[in-house]
Amino acid sequence: MLDNNVKAEIMRRRTFAIISHPDAGKTTLTEKLIYHGGVIREAGEVRGKEGVKAARSDWMALEQQRGISITSSVLQFDYQGLRVNLLDTPGHKDFSEDTYRTLMAADSAVMLIDVAKGVEDRTKKLYEVCRYRKMPIFTFVNKCDREGKAPLELIDEIETTLQMNCYPISWPLGLGGLFHGIYHRLKKQIILIHSEKQDISESWPLIIPVDSLDSPVWAEHLHREIIDQAKEEIALVDGTLGELSHEKFLKGELSPVHFASAKQNFAVDTFLDFFTEFAPPPLARPSRNGMVEPLDDNFSGFVFKIQANMDPKHRDRVAFIRICSGKFERGMKVQHSRHEKEVRLAFSNQFIAQDRETVDHAYAGDIVGVNDTGNFQIGDSIYTNKLKIFDDIPKFPPELFAKLSVTDAMKRKKLQKGIDHLSEEGMIQLFIDPIIGAQDPVIGVVGELQFEVLQYRLKDEYGLDVRINRLPFSVARWPREQDGSAVTKPLNGNFQIFRDLNDQPVILLEKEWDLNWVKKENPDIEFAASILKVQKK
Ligand code: G4P
Repeated sequence: MLDNNVKAEIMRRRTFAIISHPDAGKTTLTEKLIYHGGVIREAGEVRGKEGVKAARSDWMALEQQRGISITSSVLQFDYQGLRVNLLDTPGHKDFSEDTYRTLMAADSAVMLIDVAKGVEDRTKKLYEVCRYRKMPIFTFVNKCDREGKAPLELIDEIETTLQMNCYPISWPLGLGGLFHGIYHRLKKQIILIHSEKQDISESWPLIIPVDSLDSPVWAEHLHREIIDQAKEEIALVDGTLGELSHEKFLKGELSPVHFASAKQNFAVDTFLDFFTEFAPPPLARPSRNGMVEPLDDNFSGFVFKIQANMDPKHRDRVAFIRICSGKFERGMKVQHSRHEKEVRLAFSNQFIAQDRETVDHAYAGDIVGVNDTGNFQIGDSIYTNKLKIFDDIPKFPPELFAKLSVTDAMKRKKLQKGIDHLSEEGMIQLFIDPIIGAQDPVIGVVGELQFEVLQYRLKDEYGLDVRINRLPFSVARWPREQDGSAVTKPLNGNFQIFRDLNDQPVILLEKEWDLNWVKKENPDIEFAASILKVQKK
């Protein structure tokens, strides 16, 4: 039985990720959230852009050079008695896979939307991953201090584009140059960043309770036009929506919406207060052995991310584990489901951006990074006592392919090592030509920038100058029998069969058109776009 302290620790965990399109303000919001969580003393310490203080949530020099966020980090802070884990997700589209995997480790998500741009491409894709997992989603409409879409229009856009119901918690009072603050529908408060009648520039937010939309208090601070418009819209929203259903929110059917300005640090705390009240504690996780409850007596977790060489001075490799049940203790022995052996989780870290702290204990909902000597792959499950194998993390089919060559032929072995490490991280996928063997694999990636980062990291971390020789393939498919097992018989058609790192057959084709033809020639075979890792049990 878990003791009550452990149970209380688990129940106070809140683990979430932010999904957004680049530039919507994720870095800015993250910074403000951890500022409110007391991790940084001064909002302004974490900046991800060139020319400003080096980004603390970025690990790699390349990220700093280009001002983009590639790797993910886990930020942890306490807020109102809760222990909040914020999983930072890479901003660049070429690293979407990393983001998808990170979402697998979160219990809820904050969908960040730029008030002027509405639902953008990447937000939509990431939202689909959340929807697939039926994750609860908070909507944070950012940049209200800039001109943007009318709030009703924006809500309508979110609802129709994403096929999701919205529930505004707050409502903006003007936008852009006329942005004065928000009306908190649940608390019945006007929260102002700017008042027409008083100078509050030194003392905002000014929080004023209002008993109704007709209260004279409104006119003490706001222009007639702003009041009239806001009241009309709020009355409409109040009239259409009933009570907020926590249940629907938890099922991912309804998203509470907040309006704010992360840059001005306005209404971020309002959002955080709401978040702490509504975000779910660690959720039960599906596994092949049934649902795993976070308060299960035994420890369990899965690897959702591997990062090699985080600290170039110490060639290390860290496996990030989402704890799904029970309590983690440093040095504990756990069962490794794929290897069917016991491993010891000797070194464990929690991360606040670049700073690591050794952790002795962690609980369901937390993320720990354990130093890894090559035991782990993404998707691996670990557990104590009763067998638990968590549902696998889907891999996405790569669309760009290449082979690598080194100028110095003596360094081939080193290249192989580097490639192996980076593929274990999930950064690249490898396909082996059975005739040539593992020493010269085909590299597959989802986005162009991954090749660039690959080249950079091989140089930076392994001292290798590599040339990337592109191959004409654009489609990878895993041929399966009807029962899902790997194909063993020869296929019809003129193409080559490669093997992936799990020794599963894969075909690489030049065009989508070729795939249609291959399918026609082999009607009994399924050509899967992703493959779940084959576990022994
Ligand atoms: P990202 O991580 O999602 O890519 O976005 P990031 O936070 O880097 O923000 C992108 C730009 O949007 C930044 O401007 C940032 O200051 C601005 N921004 C973020 N939130 C708000 C907001 O609430 N209001 C306004 N007006 N702007 C916001 P930048 O010009 O790229 O950088 P900077 O010079 O402002 O630092």
